[in-house]
Amino acid sequence: MILCRTKTELQDTLKAQGTNPIIGFVPTMGGLHEGHLALVRQAKRENEVVVVSVYVNPIQFNNAEDLKKYPRDLERDLDMLKEVGCDIVFAPEDAEMYPEKPTENYSFGALETVMEGAFRPGHFNGVAIVVKRLFDLVNPTTAYFGEKDFQQLALIRALVEQEDLAVEIVACPTVREHDGLAMSSRNTRLPEEDRRIAPQIYKILRDCRDLVDVLTPAQLKTFAEEHLKKIPRTKLEYFEIVNAKTLQPIENWSNCPKRVACVAIWLGGVRLIDNVKI
Ligand code: PAJ
Repeated sequence: MILCRTKTELQDTLKAQGTNPIIGFVPTMGGLHEGHLALVRQAKRENEVVVVSVYVNPIQFNNAEDLKKYPRDLERDLDMLKEVGCDIVFAPEDAEMYPEKPTENYSFGALETVMEGAFRPGHFNGVAIVVKRLFDLVNPTTAYFGEKDFQQLALIRALVEQEDLAVEIVACPTVREHDGLAMSSRNTRLPEEDRRIAPQIYKILRDCRDLVDVLTPAQLKTFAEEHLKKIPRTKLEYFEIVNAKTLQPIENWSNCPKRVACVAIWLGGVRLIDNVKI
């Protein structure tokens, strides 16, 4: 496994892989867990060369405290990536990624005005800027993203379409802990008691899935909100049942075959997101 700290190192390393290798790319912010590794394993099965980026992208954080507390342990990440057969790791410094203040301004219309877009101003523009720059550097055949960040996935697809990029986007299912909690780099910041409470979020999402036949979307939203608000030490940011393509809230089941229930909730000082297809 080769570690590249600069764009030049990365480009030289990629050149040395021969002509037009089939490249699978997994962008991450480190703090790696089994969810990330599942993406890397799939990339490994489907490509000749696997590139993983490990970069805590400051411009996608709308909360300074969250950026400061984001887990960073490159040595540990490298060990895990070596284990799953990653070929190239790109772990740049901020000055390498952003020699100047970035000014790109992407627009994703209605996709970015709901849920994460509504509660985290500037977040998705920051994601789009870094992902576009990484795609330009790595030039991947295929890039892998987790359904855990369902809205991000939709935005990346929109970015690829808008910019007419020659990369295939593959969606990978959410990897969970044994008790159902969606794996997240931020889970390590949950104190023991909150960690015990956290699986209730997924349990409520699963209950929603079971109630689709008996409740309307509006009734289901009320049901979920009531139960989510009862979880101790939490503050609900949003719960939405949306069309999986447009991400707009739905009013009835009949004209929307693919829908997702999405939640963002604070547990103590940690913001958690999750979703299920319903
Ligand atoms: P990060 O949160 O590190 O996630 C990297 C990738 O891993 C994303 O595609 C995310 O959806 C996926 N992932 C995280 N937890 C997962 C889980 N439990 N199961 C399956 N996949 C999971 O998402 C980002 O970083 C950044 O926004 C990034 C795209 C790297 C741009 O900075």
